[in-house]
Amino acid sequence: MPADSQGQRLIFPRPRRLRRTPTLRRMVQETHLSVRDLIYPLFVMEGEGQKVEIPSMPQCYRYSVDLLQEEVARVAELGINAIALFPVIPEAKKDENGRESYNEDGLVQRTVKAIKQVRPEILVITDVALDPYSPYGHDGIVDEKGQILNDPTIEVLVKQALSHAKAGADIVAPSDMMDGRVGAIRKAMDAEGYFDVAILAYCAKYASAYYGPFRDALDSAPKFGDKKTYQMDPANAREALKEVALDIAEGADILMVKPALAYLDIIAKIKQSTHLPVAAYNVSGEYALIKAAAQQGWIDEKTVILETLTSMKRAGADLILTYFAPEVALMLQ
Ligand code: PBG
Repeated sequence: MPADSQGQRLIFPRPRRLRRTPTLRRMVQETHLSVRDLIYPLFVMEGEGQKVEIPSMPQCYRYSVDLLQEEVARVAELGINAIALFPVIPEAKKDENGRESYNEDGLVQRTVKAIKQVRPEILVITDVALDPYSPYGHDGIVDEKGQILNDPTIEVLVKQALSHAKAGADIVAPSDMMDGRVGAIRKAMDAEGYFDVAILAYCAKYASAYYGPFRDALDSAPKFGDKKTYQMDPANAREALKEVALDIAEGADILMVKPALAYLDIIAKIKQSTHLPVAAYNVSGEYALIKAAAQQGWIDEKTVILETLTSMKRAGADLILTYFAPEVALMLQ
């Protein structure tokens, strides 16, 4: 014990005092992960009785609508409140203008209705973007020079969002990063009476290599070039705040950062700059890294998953989109 020159004991800080027992540690725990924070992304495909594992995403599947209904019912029992839908569109239905994206009887539209039939209380979030519908795998309409056209794309995104709202989606989530799409979608949904359909805006979406496995799942990798003229440069943080300010002004209800793990600083910055809920997308590549190392026996999977998702909450995320959602729900039970 340190002492001063008179032999008096000095106050000696001992942070370990509060780490002594599990009960004490629980009492001073600052961040809590809850099943209510989780949004479960799901891949839907055409057909019946189909459940196909995605090679780069072990234990994640593409489901046909009937089996997806069952999966939604299963995870609802685990306490998961919200799902995010991503469609696998057959090559024959893809076209330059992404027309299938607003087909009232399209895959996403049918899936939303099917989920609402069995589990009306589950929040259904639909992705608004053209990449699953584009023969080029880009999030927008492509001109002859290979450029991604902003304003013509927005016209299609608006139709897509409206068709999702009409099908019964609770939240639409534009993930395309075109300028001005949040405002255009909000205006159109209000004009059509869908005031209550919320917008979860992917405001800080980075041009990331962590999306690789997702593009395998949807067969949506860009056929040429990359997404750097619309998705953000991983080196930029202040630009994320600019995107956030624009999306808030245009009517976003929830703000999203994507990916999550390499962008915890962005989550923290956005959280400080807004009062809106902040979501983080624990993307496919982040999932694949953990699954791959766990399969090798190199890490303790469960603990790493919880530590990773807790870091996102600690950084400021209110909501986490994660393919781990059902596993985590079980762990938290
Ligand atoms: C595209 C979209 C992507 C993801 C969600 N929506 C991929 C991309 O931008 O190329 C990625 C999700 C993930 O990696 O888990 N609109």
